[in-house]
Amino acid sequence: MLFGRIKPLDAILNVAAKKSLPRTLGAFQLMLFGIGCVIGTGIFVLTAAGAQKAGPGLMLAFAIAGAICIVAALCYAEIAAMIPVSGSAYTYTYATMGELLAWTVGWALILEYAVAASAVSVGWSGYFAGTILNEFLGIQLPAWLAAGPLILGGAPGGFINLPALVIALLVTWLLVLGTRESALFNTVLVAIKVTALTVFLVLTLPEIEMQRFNPLLPAGVFGGFGSGIGAVGAAATIFFAYVGFDAVSTAAEETKNPQRNVPIGLVGSLLFCTVFYILVAAGAIGSIGGQPIMGPDGIPFPAGSEELARQCALPQYAGMLVCSDEALAHVLREIGYSGIGNMLGIAAFVALPSVILVLLFAQTRIFFVMSRDGLLPEGLSKVHPKWNTPYIVTYITGAVVAVGAAFLPVGQLADISNGGTLYAFMMVAIAVMILRRTAPGVKRHFRTPALWLVGPATILGCIFLFLNLPFLAMLVLPIWAAIGLVIYFAYSRGNSRLGRGIVEVVDDVEGDETAIPLGER
Ligand code: ALA
Repeated sequence: MLFGRIKPLDAILNVAAKKSLPRTLGAFQLMLFGIGCVIGTGIFVLTAAGAQKAGPGLMLAFAIAGAICIVAALCYAEIAAMIPVSGSAYTYTYATMGELLAWTVGWALILEYAVAASAVSVGWSGYFAGTILNEFLGIQLPAWLAAGPLILGGAPGGFINLPALVIALLVTWLLVLGTRESALFNTVLVAIKVTALTVFLVLTLPEIEMQRFNPLLPAGVFGGFGSGIGAVGAAATIFFAYVGFDAVSTAAEETKNPQRNVPIGLVGSLLFCTVFYILVAAGAIGSIGGQPIMGPDGIPFPAGSEELARQCALPQYAGMLVCSDEALAHVLREIGYSGIGNMLGIAAFVALPSVILVLLFAQTRIFFVMSRDGLLPEGLSKVHPKWNTPYIVTYITGAVVAVGAAFLPVGQLADISNGGTLYAFMMVAIAVMILRRTAPGVKRHFRTPALWLVGPATILGCIFLFLNLPFLAMLVLPIWAAIGLVIYFAYSRGNSRLGRGIVEVVDDVEGDETAIPLGER
């Protein structure tokens, strides 16, 4: 039965009511939190992959992905303010569409968070190898240690991306020790990232030459479903640059005047990023050019493909934006600002690990809640006696993330992660609409405006972007879901606490950020 085993909303709301954190956050703090989670590998690195898919159409791609995220954010805001407990989209689905679909969402969130953490680790590795090792220390990392194998879209001579593996393990270790990003630390990192991008704009915008935008859409707007090219193909990839804003929704219950501040914080941080991203794309492409490398059939080589890696190894393509592992620093170096390019490289080197930390943290929390619900083995949620963190689940997650980062290229990881995220966003939009019908009387601190337009727009937008991912990345979600369903019916269904008649709502996750007022972190 599709809607069987629904976790009673009342039980969840009772737990949320008991928690009741003080309302201390204003719109500006929420925006800072959002920008801190969002700006990362997407803009610092994937700009290159986006340009390979769409050329100057990348600017349109940022606008499309940003618009879809804004409508999704409005749905998240309502449900997060209404059901402010751990587990995010997984818990919302459990309360509206039942255990089976909740399981699929939790399972898809592994793609969102764990695979995204791998992607950001690979993005970081590009800046580490290019700026820190090469520019500052004069060390050229051997090809076999700098990227995954060519057959997986790495680089010629590549075998393992050692820096990406190491950073993923290092962040895992920090998480096991109980490291959290404090509000102050977040503010400092936001300042570093925004300063780096502002300097980038100040230096590149005056260098823009209009002929570099010609042709504006070398691969068209719509490259065809599953092709992963054209402006919407690029939008499906650089959607990754916006992932993470859902973390803001977890702070909804700590917000003063949430009806006003939550949408300003969520939509404000996304609008800010959208405008910034479009300008950065314009600066990058307008100053050094960003046309794709075309295959013999006049279609861009797929980003992250073996063919493209071979082309990029040729001397005539060496300086192209689409071939760079550290896109934004590369642009500044190309227009004669090597020193400032290196500073931007350091900003990425310093700031990206905190994005990995937030993503890994979110992943361990979802696993923790699922294991406490009995859907995953309860041993996974064991808490470390000294550090008070769910160390087993953190170690396992970290190991998987590190392996992904070691062997796969950033663009493919981002595409796979986007597939899972889009599914989760869609389910959240459905959950909000179901709750409006099934629980109309429950107090909503924030109501999504025009939900019957915004909800369907989110669902259609997510499906549309999903269908524009490269075919192989698209395939991962159903295969992953099929593996998940086998596990569900072989293990989780029989072990589910709800299935055994135990109505329990978990909201005492050790080290759960949502349990600590954001302002006091
Ligand atoms: N939005 C985050 C990034 O771009 C995940 O790194």
